[in-house]
Amino acid sequence: MEDSRILNPGISIKASVTLEDVKKIIFESYGIKAKQLHELNGYDDWNYHVTTEKSDSSIESRGEVGENGYVLKIINSLDSKKPRVFEAQSLLLLHLENYGFRCPKPILTKAEQFFETVELRSGEHIVRLLEYIDGTIFHKVPRTPRLLYQAGEIVSRMDIAMKVYFQSFHHPAYNNYKTLWMLDSVPQITQFLFAIQDKTKKQLVQNVVQEFQDRVLSISNTLERGLIHGDFNEQNIIVEEQNGQYEIKAVIDFGDAHIACYLYELAITMCYMMLIDKDVYAGGHVLAGYSAIRKVPDAELSLLRICIAARLCQSLVIGAYSNLQDPENSYVLTTAAQGWILLDQIWNETDSGLLHKWTNI
Ligand SMILES: Nc1ncnc2c1ncn2[C@@H]1O[C@H](COP(=O)(O)OP(=O)(O)O)[C@@H](O)[C@H]1O
Ligand SMILES: [Mg+2]
Repeated sequence: MEDSRILNPGISIKASVTLEDVKKIIFESYGIKAKQLHELNGYDDWNYHVTTEKSDSSIESRGEVGENGYVLKIINSLDSKKPRVFEAQSLLLLHLENYGFRCPKPILTKAEQFFETVELRSGEHIVRLLEYIDGTIFHKVPRTPRLLYQAGEIVSRMDIAMKVYFQSFHHPAYNNYKTLWMLDSVPQITQFLFAIQDKTKKQLVQNVVQEFQDRVLSISNTLERGLIHGDFNEQNIIVEEQNGQYEIKAVIDFGDAHIACYLYELAITMCYMMLIDKDVYAGGHVLAGYSAIRKVPDAELSLLRICIAARLCQSLVIGAYSNLQDPENSYVLTTAAQGWILLDQIWNETDSGLLHKWTNI
């Protein structure tokens, strides 16, 4: 069934812009004269690291940032139709910052708003500016058990902090927010299966989706829920070196934050850490760190394997589809090579066999 809130096949949503447009937007909406624009990775949005000539006092009064510049995001046309979500996300970032988490501060527009809508050749797009956080992206540094443990720990701490946000000033925009990337949307990926050529892989995805529907979606309303980050991956964590070892410094990219089962947050984090580490045992370190903060109920532990398999399928299918739409964007294939290997590996294990590996590290 078509849902206008989530991506449908064949629709191009990324903005069409030139660097000149970007400079003009930054100046007109934020009053910032960009000295340099450096294109960052972007899945469906354009992301630019913006550096300025010298700090602009009018900006500082609207949001104190360091000298590392800003990130300008030009949001895809589909998400641009859900402006209230960006307000909710900006308030969430401010809440987390107040709670002691390092995440990008939203910078207000000249009109003191969290975002502005601009008209481009590709239609109306939301633009927003965030603080750029200096450091190294997690995927570039060697993984250690300590860092993997820290990833699990921080994600569960963050979920607790988001629970406070959710309970104290819950934003209505999150009530019916839906995207293709949410685990609750896993059944929708079958519409994009044409992007996968290999018949065995297609069948594997279909089996995983079916089992996920039967075992997880059918009972998901009985599991503990709250606001989750929803995309805790190796590209969304910033680390820095301290006393000769890497520590997690900040978490970015709250674009997929939504209300869902806590189980999904843990499964997504374990999934990406196993992918980047090319080792299923990495999941055990994440689980240990996570469990130190929130005890994982047995009902959730037994569903971890299927949720991780479902996330892998989601990433592999949407990645393959996005690659057809935008062949020059290699970022959308980040999961591809290792993803199929990991999917086969965990699919050939039993729930208890895999859990045994994770809990015995
Ligand atoms: N605030 C920030 N500080 C530092 N780097 C950032 C920041 N925002 C984005 N980046 C860089 O840009 C990349 C893509 O941005 P992100 O917000 O994660 O977009 P996407 O939703 O497309 O993944 C990140 O993986 C990171 O390398
Ligand atoms: Mg990201």
